[in-house]
Amino acid sequence: ISNKETIPLYQMLFEDGSNLGLSISYKVQHAPNGIAESFILGEEFIGKSAVSLILGDNIFYGKLNFFYDAVRDLKNGAVIFGYRVTDPERYGIVEFDKQGKVISIEEKPGNPKSDYAVPGLYVYDNKVVEISKNLKPSKRGELEITDVNKVYMESNELSVKKIGRGVAWLDTGTPEALLQASNFFGVIEARQGLKVACLEEIAFQKGFIDKQGLEKLLTSMPNSLYKDYLLKLLKE
Ligand code: G1P
Repeated sequence: ISNKETIPLYQMLFEDGSNLGLSISYKVQHAPNGIAESFILGEEFIGKSAVSLILGDNIFYGKLNFFYDAVRDLKNGAVIFGYRVTDPERYGIVEFDKQGKVISIEEKPGNPKSDYAVPGLYVYDNKVVEISKNLKPSKRGELEITDVNKVYMESNELSVKKIGRGVAWLDTGTPEALLQASNFFGVIEARQGLKVACLEEIAFQKGFIDKQGLEKLLTSMPNSLYKDYLLKLLKE
């Protein structure tokens, strides 16, 4: 889900996803009406299922089991995450009581009650569609994901899991943050000689595509260091 200018670029890159062994559908959000609108726009895709939402400008690196476990184990309610940051006023912020239970969630608070930000990674049961339809726009005119989470919190159906030290959550929402993320991955890739989030490589390693599928992707790819990396993978 993205705006009408950006969707065609993603479509050019990924088409229906089958080249990578995936199935991708697209939907335009015609106005910036907020993150929670995605559940209204995506209703036809969600059907009767539970659903997870990942924000396109959030990057996660490290062992992501905390997320896979949440998706696998969800029965009812919602699971969101808490990640310690130094700039809490830029995010949705969760406050915990002494027992570790969440007692408040605020969107971009002037006086943050904790340093735990909510990353753009959410897991919900199917009620999220109805909850989103019943939201009122916030002061900034958006259907806020934080308001969705508050509804779950108020009915005691919100679980907030803290993400520990071993995982990097990076944001690309400001030029500074984008530069930090680029430097972070530049260092790791240069050191290991392995690419981070190289989709063709992941699809091949996970068996979504076979050797022929990877070869097919490579024939239409212009010469580049990226292509050389994949050619090397094919030979290994
Ligand atoms: C959004 C959410 C916020 C969350 C953040 C994560 O912020 O509203 O709660 O912490 O994404 O990236 P926004 O993209 O509106 O700045």
